[in-house]
Amino acid sequence: MKIILKVNDRARDVNVEPRKTLLDTLREDLALVGSHAGCEHGVCGACTVLLDGEPARACLMFAVQADGYEITTIEGLAPAPGELSIVQDAFCETHGLQCGYCTPGMILTAHSLLRREANPTREEIVDAISANICRCTGYGQIIEAVQFAAERLRKANSQRSPTGADADLQDVEAVGANALHGGGR
Ligand code: FES
Ligand code: FES
Repeated sequence: MKIILKVNDRARDVNVEPRKTLLDTLREDLALVGSHAGCEHGVCGACTVLLDGEPARACLMFAVQADGYEITTIEGLAPAPGELSIVQDAFCETHGLQCGYCTPGMILTAHSLLRREANPTREEIVDAISANICRCTGYGQIIEAVQFAAERLRKANSQRSPTGADADLQDVEAVGANALHGGGR
């Protein structure tokens, strides 16, 4: 059946079997292979995407169920081709990834958390990523990555808005690329 998926701010026409998962559709029909297939039954979080900004398991839903949502995949976070978002860069800088299999899901989960909470506690970060399994890092550096990203985003936000008014995370990510590389740790 024909559906329109709005993925990373682009409307995409797809023709899918009604029982095809969103994960398989993203990977096979839209070539968005950053959403990883791990357990494929809702346990590992490797397939995490954002639906209207909230983390969701792409392996647990049919593509047809995603019609009407704003879908964000890891490919949609970078401010420009060849650049990394602040959250992505923080994972690199703090060695918050090793094999990288869990990383897109972790980063999207972190992105969602930082969108609603600019200064999360360690416990809030642990709680947010608790549904995402990492077999490599031991989680310490992932938590550090989220804390580091939060710090940089707050700095970019205050530079952009001296009054302290909240700015959209996506906008801050876009204008924050310079602050990011000039800001240091
Ligand atoms: S692949 Fe979806 S939760 Fe593991
Ligand atoms: S970095 Fe390998 S599973 Fe997380």
